[in-house]
Amino acid sequence: MKSLEDRILSEGKALSDSVLKVNSFINHMVDPKLMHEIGDTFAAYYKDSSITKVVTIEVSGIAPAVYTAEALGVPLVILKKQTSKTLSGDVLQTNITSFTKGTSYELTLERAYVSPEDHVLIIDDFLANGEAATGAACLVQEAGASIAGIGILIEKSFQRGRSRLEKNGYKVTSLVRVSKLAKGKIEFMQADI
Ligand code: G4P
Repeated sequence: MKSLEDRILSEGKALSDSVLKVNSFINHMVDPKLMHEIGDTFAAYYKDSSITKVVTIEVSGIAPAVYTAEALGVPLVILKKQTSKTLSGDVLQTNITSFTKGTSYELTLERAYVSPEDHVLIIDDFLANGEAATGAACLVQEAGASIAGIGILIEKSFQRGRSRLEKNGYKVTSLVRVSKLAKGKIEFMQADI
């Protein structure tokens, strides 16, 4: 997605050879216009895939996932990283370890919101090592649903997330694929959409 690449080049900052800062339009301040365009782009790509639900992981996946779900005309389910008193009944959980942050959390889905009839599109902002996306896909499948694909805004193609997901049979559609990061340098390769 050319407009996302352009935005990354104009406002993104490579903090190191592995971390890209995009706080001014995705992770801290959010550009709704761009998120809308992202939602429309995913929806156009998946329009004939009989998607019944979009699933994302809090926090930064929510904005693009809302627009994607709206454009597809289906509900959005947000997987929780923190348990809360309102999560009740039959919950599915999987432990996620973030290599980037060195932290771990229990990703949680209340079973009532994803059913075996669902065909799900998973949306997330970054794909690094694929921990979060793998965990999300596991929960959706544990709930009995099928997965049409995993839509990613920014894939860091030099990390193992994509190959890990594809090895497990998931279709990955990334709007932007970053092939190389170095201080002050951001390079892209051909993206999926
Ligand atoms: P993985 O799921 O692909 O294995 O990623 P990893 O554990 O390494 O990443 C953990 C968190 O760090 C995720 O956000 C992920 O989106 C984010 N992240 C990974 N690489 C980058 C990067 O280069 N730049 C930025 N900005 N973020 C990156 P999170 O903790 O779930 O954050 P949030 O969604 O709550 O904002």
